[in-house]
Amino acid sequence: TVGAKTEAWGVSDEDTPVGHVKEMPRELILEIVKSYGDAAKLCQECGFDMVQVHAAHGWLFSQFLSPVENKRTDEFGGSLENRARFLMMALDEVRKAVGPRFPIECRISGDDLTDAGLDMDACVEVAKLIEDKVDLFQVSCGNHEDPAMFCRTHPNAFFPRGVNVYLAANIKKHVSKPVACVGSLNDPAQMEEILRTGQADIVEIARGLVADPYLPSKALHDRADDITPCLRCYECFADTVTKESVKCSVNPTMGQQLDAKAGIPAAKQRKRVLIAGGGPAGMEAAITLAQRGHEVTLAEKSGKLGGNLHPAGAAFFKEDIRKLCRTLKNRVKRSGAAVVLNTEVTPEYVREFDPDTLIVAIGSNELRPPIKGMELPHVVMAIDAELHPEKLGKRVAIMGGGLVGGEAAIGFHHEGHEVSIIEMKPEVAMEVNSFYRGGLMPQIEKAAVSYVNTKVLEIVPEGVKVEKDGETFVIEADSVVCALGFRAPYAAVDALCAEVDESYIIGDCRNVGQIHHAINQGYYTALLV
Ligand SMILES: Cc1cc2nc3c(=O)[nH]c(=O)nc-3n(C[C@H](O)[C@H](O)[C@H](O)COP(=O)(O)O)c2cc1C
Ligand code: SF4
Repeated sequence: TVGAKTEAWGVSDEDTPVGHVKEMPRELILEIVKSYGDAAKLCQECGFDMVQVHAAHGWLFSQFLSPVENKRTDEFGGSLENRARFLMMALDEVRKAVGPRFPIECRISGDDLTDAGLDMDACVEVAKLIEDKVDLFQVSCGNHEDPAMFCRTHPNAFFPRGVNVYLAANIKKHVSKPVACVGSLNDPAQMEEILRTGQADIVEIARGLVADPYLPSKALHDRADDITPCLRCYECFADTVTKESVKCSVNPTMGQQLDAKAGIPAAKQRKRVLIAGGGPAGMEAAITLAQRGHEVTLAEKSGKLGGNLHPAGAAFFKEDIRKLCRTLKNRVKRSGAAVVLNTEVTPEYVREFDPDTLIVAIGSNELRPPIKGMELPHVVMAIDAELHPEKLGKRVAIMGGGLVGGEAAIGFHHEGHEVSIIEMKPEVAMEVNSFYRGGLMPQIEKAAVSYVNTKVLEIVPEGVKVEKDGETFVIEADSVVCALGFRAPYAAVDALCAEVDESYIIGDCRNVGQIHHAINQGYYTALLV
């Protein structure tokens, strides 16, 4: 390798927050070109059926292609042909290594969506320049390294599914090689429509397959309603940074594929299992226990399964959660588990039922702190407000700017309310993973005025009296929403567990968490019984 290991090389000289990047000499470019060929050959020898060369998302080839980042004056800088030279040389080297009958896909940008990158027309020119060197284009967009753009490259739930398909369609108009689209696709009907209307020749999926690896087979066998939807929550990325592994909020086997390959083990001994609580944790446990051959009864206090998925899925941008709820309910139905609604599991109920195993999944309770004025009629708890936004007046003050408060603000704003968020911490939605947060914060900023480092003193008829920087003032509101968190009902949980020899506690009543925790605990606890 050219230079010392501690040196960073890039397209052009640049001072970055983490140090200086030196312009790559030609020698290093040639070394990298050769490495592309070696890597492709290795992939072929390992048995892969094709390779992809990545020239998008602000990575190395994309930096060379950029008219702004590429400041070179040699044959790799200047005109678009020059800026594309490195990519073209690498593609030639890959072809030389893998031979003529091994497919090469090139992931290109359809629009870098930034002033520092390529626009749609320039992306078309890149496609034309490399067309004779590739077998397939995959058209993505944006920039992987820009937090604000991340939610477009990996579209979040504020964008319609398939938001980037038009970029593939644009490239397709100008090339004759097949073109694939990518980005937030997991509905087979929509994918069929993309292909039918000729917007793309191939649909590629990333997170949809992380959420449900059986998506293609379910689509093929007309079982779209059983596809676990990707929630576009970015938890899969969260662990890649620290653990170099991938987890998923809705697919508990993600990251554990080796174990999962063996399938769900049949129960050694069939047991009568009572599950108290039909939220995501209880439903996932019921499905898995029933699959294992246990006799399962799922008892739910309210009139429907779903628990907190209902308030969490109420806002306009939460169709993914609504779909997850429907999918889990259908699976419970098909699993053979008995479902008992409008039934609160009390210690007496457990005693009478006399299960071999009890699984407690009774969820959490909303925190109702003893703030002066909480009893006033314009105070609405967050769950109630999310499910019944019609209860809210025009001006809404949300006490608590965590994920629940922040997302609720976006929903209320969409319903036409004027929203304020009051948060004690220095920022709103601080607990949210940074990948989701990058796309969430601009939405919160559009939807609400956020008062951070601000303490609620008292709820008054005119709104909420607060203190910020030593100053006391009233944030005026017609309705005050309490989104100050949840607490596990440990006493109730203990009382239920005391009735049986074998019990497990899962979901929010064990530790208030997110969908990811509920589904994981439901699944893995079911494997223990
Ligand atoms: C866990 C995970 C890791 C990813 N890693 C990369 C990566 O290293 N480079 C890249 O260009 N895209 C990466 N992607 C992005 C995907 O290839 C895809 O472009 C993006 O997720 C949008 O497609 P989707 O909406 O179907 O997920 C990754 C996606 C996921 C879910
Ligand atoms: S973790 Fe979230 S974003 Fe990632 S695949 Fe699973 S549901 Fe989708």
